[in-house]
Amino acid sequence: MVDFTGRDIISCKDFTREEIVYILDKASSMEELVKKQGSTDLLKGKILATLFFEPSTRTRLSFEAAMLRMGGSVIGFSSIEGTSIMKGESFEDTIRTVDQYADVLVVRHPKPGSAKIAANVAESPVINAGDGPNEHPTQALLDLYTIRKEKGRIDDLDIALVGDLKHARTMHSLAYALSNFKVKLYLVSPPQLRMPSEVLDYLDKKKVEYVEVSNISEVISKVDVVYVVRVQKERFKSIEEYEKVKASYIIKPELLSKARKDMIILHPLPRTIELPVEVDKTPHAKYFGQVRNGVYVRMALLGLVLGRL
Ligand code: NCD
Repeated sequence: MVDFTGRDIISCKDFTREEIVYILDKASSMEELVKKQGSTDLLKGKILATLFFEPSTRTRLSFEAAMLRMGGSVIGFSSIEGTSIMKGESFEDTIRTVDQYADVLVVRHPKPGSAKIAANVAESPVINAGDGPNEHPTQALLDLYTIRKEKGRIDDLDIALVGDLKHARTMHSLAYALSNFKVKLYLVSPPQLRMPSEVLDYLDKKKVEYVEVSNISEVISKVDVVYVVRVQKERFKSIEEYEKVKASYIIKPELLSKARKDMIILHPLPRTIELPVEVDKTPHAKYFGQVRNGVYVRMALLGLVLGRL
C-alpha cells in the first residue's frame, strides 16, 4: 500500500519502483483530468509556498500552475531580495516561518542537503525543487513520466545521459530514479564532467548496467532516449574551468541522421548551446511536451503529499 500523505520529497533514492509507478499513474489521471475539465477543486483551501533561493522558470511556475489547477492557492518568493534573509535571517528560521502559513513547501536552494534541513524543521511536507548540484527529484519524475508516455515503457530502454553529469542535479536524480528499472545507461560527458562516484556507486549497488563514454557520436545510433543538460556554469569554481568545457558537447542536427527513427531527445531546460534550435523541428524533439508534463506530475505530487489523491 503506497501512502504519500505528509511525506517529504527529498531524494530519488527514497522511492521504490512501486512508488514511482504509483506517482506516474496518478500523474496520468491528472493529465486526463486537465484535458477533460481544465481544473479540479481537490486542493481547495490548501496553500502552497514556493521558496526559491535560486533562479527558476519551469519548476516554480509549474508548481504554481499545478496548485492553481487543483483549486489551491500559492504564496512565495522567487529570489531572496525583498525577504528577511537580507536582514540576516537564517534558512531554518525562514522555513519555520513559512511553515506557519502554508500546507506544503517547495524549496530550491544552492546548498546540497538544504531540502533535508528544511524537512527537519518544517511540519508541513517539503518538496525539494533542487538543492544545489545534489538532486532535483520532481524533475526526474517528470522525465520518467515523459519517457513512459513517449516510449510506452521504461524497462528495456537504452538511455544516454549527456553533458555536465558532474554538476547537474537533474542527472543525479534521474540516474537514481532509473535504477529501479531495467535500463542500460550510457553516461556521456567530457572527462572533467563525469558522473560523481557517489552516483556510480549507487548504480553499482542497484546492479544497473552502465558505460561511461566521452562522445555522443559513439552511442547515438544505439539509444532510445538522449537526455541532455546544459553545462551548469554557476557550479564551477572558476570561469576558466567553465570556459574549457562550455562547448564540449552539442547535439548537432547532422548527428541525428545516425539515430533511430523513434529515438527521443529530452532536456530539463533551460538550454544554452548544447541543443541548437534546429533540433526542435525534428521528430526526436520532445522537450516542450516534457515541460507540460511537469504540471501533471506536480499536480499528482501535491495531491499525494496533501492526502487528497
Ligand atoms: C534544471 C535545474 O534547475 O536543475 N532546470 C529545471 O529545473 N528544469 C536544469 C538546469 O538548470 O540546467
